[in-house]
This record gives sequence, C-alpha cells and structure tokens, in this order.
Amino acid sequence: MERFGKNMKDMRYLTFALGKGRLAKKTLEMFEQIGITCEEMKDKDTRKLIFVNEELKLRFFLAKGPDVPTYVEYGAADIGVVGKDTILEEGRNIYEVLDLGFGKCRMCICGPAEAKELLQHHELIRVATKYPHIAKDYFYNKKHQTVEIIKLNGSIELAPIVGLSEVICDIVETGSTLKENGLTVLEEVCPLSARMVVNQVSMKMENERITKLISDLKTVIS
Ligand code: PRP
Repeated sequence: MERFGKNMKDMRYLTFALGKGRLAKKTLEMFEQIGITCEEMKDKDTRKLIFVNEELKLRFFLAKGPDVPTYVEYGAADIGVVGKDTILEEGRNIYEVLDLGFGKCRMCICGPAEAKELLQHHELIRVATKYPHIAKDYFYNKKHQTVEIIKLNGSIELAPIVGLSEVICDIVETGSTLKENGLTVLEEVCPLSARMVVNQVSMKMENERITKLISDLKTVIS
C-alpha cells in the first residue's frame, strides 16, 4: 500500500496530541471525514491514554489543552490540535499550519458596562484572567495601558462581581455567561478557533505525509 507515497513498512508512526474535551471530539469527527479513524478511542470506558491506528501508522493521545503545544514543541507529538487561545498563551516554538474552523469564539475584555471608561483613560485597573500573557500583550503592547494582572484558573466572570478586579480578559462564545452575570463585552482582543500545530522538525522530516493531511483537511473545512 503506497497511500502516502512511501512503503507502509518503512513508515514511522505520526503522533497526534489532541486537547481533551470538545475539541478532541470535533477533531476526530473531521479526521473521519478524510478516512482517518481510531476505533479504540471511541470506547467511552477505556482508561487508556494512547490509541493506535496500525494500518495508517498513526498514534493519538489526549492531553490537557495547555500541554498540547509543549508535547509538540519537544517532538513527543508531531501534530497537535488546540485552541488559538492556548497557542497565544503558551508561546511555544511550533508551526501553526491550519485553522480548522470549529471552536470559534473570541478573546475579550469584559466587565460591567460602567468599566468601559476605565479602558479609555489609561487608568491603573485590575484584570483577572486565565490568560496572563494574552492580557499583558494586549494591555501593554497594543493599548499601552499599565494594568495589574491577576491570574485565575476558571469562572473568571466572578472576579468583577465580587470586586477582585474591574475587568476580565476571557473567552466569549455565546455571551450567555456574561449576560447571566450582568457583564458585557467591552473590547475584543482577537478571534479564536481550533488550530492544527506541527513540530518544526516533523514538518521537514515528514513533510509529504503532513502536507497531504493538511490538504485533505482543507477539502472538508467549510
Ligand atoms: C468559558 C469561558 C467563559 C465561557 C464563555 O469557560 O471562560 O466563562 O466559557 O462561554 P459563553 O460565552 O458561551 O457563555 P469554561 O466553561 O470553559 O469554564 P471555566 O470558567 O472554568 O474556564
């Protein structure tokens, strides 16, 4: 079988790191559309961490989203699928090769409507976020506003409600979390979606297979 232009027996395994959760599910659905399946991974009760498709010489593992760029940078995975938010926050040396077009949302500065003017007069405010690097880059490099950044690990919307910070820098998808908590989008930082990332050495050594994968995926991305 010479499906990828090389004899299958000479091929090494290509390893994929997928961010656990919604993104992994969507990624596997998209891979199925281009003939890449991993039956082992569909077993809901399995405690296995790594799944193999012997026929196509592919391996898949699930990792915490923020760890995906780390596995890819060090070459423990050749390819990763992860949100653009994580790519920006982690700042790893990896190639971002494809916007997969799902998991679309926005990184925004949010808060109560009254906080809007605090963003216009360069006031020293507190910004709570799970993404301190993204927040710092936005306020320091784009807005030239000095702020105090407070790192949190989740439920970021709580911060302005209980008085920990004036605003937050967080992901907005439908906007319902903000709405139900009396908060609003004050400024948009950037659009986000799921991206495919590749190890820099793998991109050279496995160029043919990876290029084929990217072009196949492009045909199913609407
Ligand atoms: C994310 C994000 C917002 C929410 C936005 O949180 O941090 O809180 O989703 O979605 P919405 O605009 O559709 O309401 P997530 O559920 O991932 O949990 P977290 O608060 O623990 O980060």
